[in-house]
Amino acid sequence: MDTRRDFIRKSAILCAAAGLPLALPSGGHAAVREMKIRDPKNALILYYTQTGMTRRYGGLIACLLKENGLAVNLADMRHFDKNALTDYDLILVGSPVFYYDIPSNVSDWLSFLPSIPGVPVAAFVSFGGPEGNQHNALCHALRLLENAGGATAGMDAFRSVPGYPTPDWDSANQRSGEHLPDEHTFEQVRAFTGRVLAQVGRGESVGYEAQIALREFLRILPLVWLNKKAISKHTVDGDKCILCRACVKTCPTGAIHPDRQFVDREKCIACFGCLNNCPVDAVVMEYRGKRLYGFPEYLRRRKIAIAEPPEFQTCRPEDTGEV
Ligand SMILES: Cc1cc2nc3c(=O)[nH]c(=O)nc-3n(C[C@H](O)[C@H](O)[C@H](O)COP(=O)(O)O)c2cc1C
Ligand code: SF4
Ligand code: SF4
Repeated sequence: MDTRRDFIRKSAILCAAAGLPLALPSGGHAAVREMKIRDPKNALILYYTQTGMTRRYGGLIACLLKENGLAVNLADMRHFDKNALTDYDLILVGSPVFYYDIPSNVSDWLSFLPSIPGVPVAAFVSFGGPEGNQHNALCHALRLLENAGGATAGMDAFRSVPGYPTPDWDSANQRSGEHLPDEHTFEQVRAFTGRVLAQVGRGESVGYEAQIALREFLRILPLVWLNKKAISKHTVDGDKCILCRACVKTCPTGAIHPDRQFVDREKCIACFGCLNNCPVDAVVMEYRGKRLYGFPEYLRRRKIAIAEPPEFQTCRPEDTGEV
């Protein structure tokens, strides 16, 4: 069985040979802006998450900001009214890295924002492997926030156990990241939060620059399209399904219909959210003929308990006004 990297390498050769249309990368740029707020009273942490990693980091940041005296709202961007963005003194956006970038539903969401001139903004991503292009994914998120007028106060990437399903969940990244996040990761989140607050106190944005690296060229492949070609079966097992609708809630494109055991393959963007959120392993996906299983089943089979930061013993993220 090929690893995902083998698959991408072969796909790159195939694409070049077939002359498939490739999207151009959208990098970040260095920009220095004055912040209109140096002493924020409130903050918003917006996240998108599928296996809970980005939300966990966002929740920790929320608790830390609260400790610093700010009124904090933690919100899933799928349920947040964009018009309320203008109510905040500091905005942080968190996203997973999917296919070497922020997911398309996140970039679509960030592409149309109300004007937030001079408002301090920061971005964080959770990612699954060191070669995952997280720096440029962060630059992409920041560029979209800057387009709305935001002034960049910082960015950072926090590694997690990768939620990208493989038939045996045994890729090099999955093996090396199985214990993540750990105390070191949480310490990174604390340091990032401190840096963002210090930068806002200085009142001037930080510059950033997208990197031109080999992995950026991987990003320009039509990876979602290629992956969809490799997914040979995608349906719902009506005998196992308990109609909890977790897959429907997580699907960013409305492609899955468990009541009819149907997945609209045209609409699907191969994000694996349905598979990774089904509590009873009822989403059936085959990747090049091999059955995949999702994140909850992976945790069960490997007896993995995801670590929570100690801050959550006294501060529950859902108490920070989670939307
Ligand atoms: C469809 C998909 C694509 C992914 N692509 C990448 C990637 O290109 N680079 C990377 O570092 N991690 C990648 N990952 C791993 C996720 O970034 C990682 O599991 C992240 O922590 C998930 O965050 P969440 O739980 O908030 O959704 C991918 C995961 C999925 C499901
Ligand atoms: S149906 Fe496709 S787009 Fe919807 S959650 Fe499943 S993999 Fe993602
Ligand atoms: S998440 Fe699983 S059990 Fe729940 S509705 Fe979807 S397929 Fe059925």
